[in-house]
Amino acid sequence: MKLWKGRFQKEADPKTNDFNSSISIDSRMAQEDIVGSIAHASMLGECGIIGKEESEKICDGLRKIAEDLEKGTLAIDPDAEDIHTFVEGELTARIGSAGKRLHTARSRNDQVALDIRLTLRENGKAIRGQLAELIGVLCEKAEQYSATVMPGYTHLQRAQPITFGHHLMAYCEMLLRDLSRLEDALRRMDVMPLGSGALAGTTYPLDRELTARLLGFSQVSQNSLDGVADRDFCAELAFFSSMTMVHLSRFCEELVLWCSWEYKFVELDDAFSTGSSIMPQKKNPDIAELIRGKSGRVFGDLMGLLAMMKGLPLAYNKDMQEDKEAVFDAIDTLRLCLTPLIPMVKTMTVLEENMRAAAAKGFINATDCADYLVAEKGMPFRDAYKATGELVALCIQKGLTLETLPLEEYRRVCDNFDEGVYEAISLEKCVKDRKVLGGPAPENVVSQVRRVRELLAKMERGTEK
Ligand code: ARG
Repeated sequence: MKLWKGRFQKEADPKTNDFNSSISIDSRMAQEDIVGSIAHASMLGECGIIGKEESEKICDGLRKIAEDLEKGTLAIDPDAEDIHTFVEGELTARIGSAGKRLHTARSRNDQVALDIRLTLRENGKAIRGQLAELIGVLCEKAEQYSATVMPGYTHLQRAQPITFGHHLMAYCEMLLRDLSRLEDALRRMDVMPLGSGALAGTTYPLDRELTARLLGFSQVSQNSLDGVADRDFCAELAFFSSMTMVHLSRFCEELVLWCSWEYKFVELDDAFSTGSSIMPQKKNPDIAELIRGKSGRVFGDLMGLLAMMKGLPLAYNKDMQEDKEAVFDAIDTLRLCLTPLIPMVKTMTVLEENMRAAAAKGFINATDCADYLVAEKGMPFRDAYKATGELVALCIQKGLTLETLPLEEYRRVCDNFDEGVYEAISLEKCVKDRKVLGGPAPENVVSQVRRVRELLAKMERGTEK
């Protein structure tokens, strides 16, 4: 039965009823809806807006509904219009007339604005934990492979020598920014909207601060229209999720490349790989590909949210019911992707020799060869660059590397070269000397790992408070 039956002469058309209903999406907010209602009813009781006894009866009834839902002894009615209607109806069926007082000084518009926040707050905390865990695993690997030489790429062409630890720490930096974006979004979402009513607040003397305290919010919303019409927090979390998925998709793309025979820099554990139904030799990085692929739907969720909100007049419009499906899909997909990614990275085998062998090909120490002429022989960089370019061409012609090219050949191109060049272009020295702040030297990787671990520990202390 509809809440608004008094005003209407007909039942809703059944198909239209389904179309209008949001129960299939918002039933996941059942516990949050109940928690919000308990706080609201307690506040109503405290303020003398409803009787103390009624308030207690309502809260008890709601707690029992929460328990029954948890135990599975109460099923959510799929024909209910939304979770708010279902909970209120169930309460009234159980406790009688007191239940009818729950919705005093409240609208589903401020109620839903609260429920989404409560749901996202819990999910946000879970994602924070997962991201911190992934960063921790990357730090472990980076520490272990802080001195492992690999080619760094630009244009996917071997460019300059770096360390595998440094490469992994680049992802830690991205993920730390993602974490801070999440913290930001959660902080801005930390606003309690109940009391906004349908749009114009209420004439009842509510203690909104009390409701906020009961629900663990640090602030109350300051404008009733904005309180019910704001969905910035959904878009912000969808953007945070999208940006994080961009980063995960880049990492996963690299894992896919690194698993190929063309690279063979890493081997994924069998538990996180798949085979082929026809090709017996195959071991595929499906998980990494799927994460790469799922990033697309998260961007879609963000676009959908922005397009849904664009141009909406104040205050609540039914369009906004579409918010939950999008933002929940964004965060669910992110959580889903992080779940296998963390153990997959933890268990992957790093094939250091293959990285080293790839680094030895492709003349990635050519810049260091030119730098040697500049530092040791005082040549202008542009001249040193040109001489080294000629040497590379010569090596290609002769099928040699800069390491194996005889000194006479070096000297034929530029007589400034002497024996010292071989030490200058040794890959180990090339990475060891790149110890400028932010560079890939093994000692830098170790201190980067320390710094990131300290940051994580500080964040953890901050969120415990
Ligand atoms: N199911 C609705 C939503 O998700 C709840 C708010 C309904 N408010 C209304 N005025 N119809 O947005």
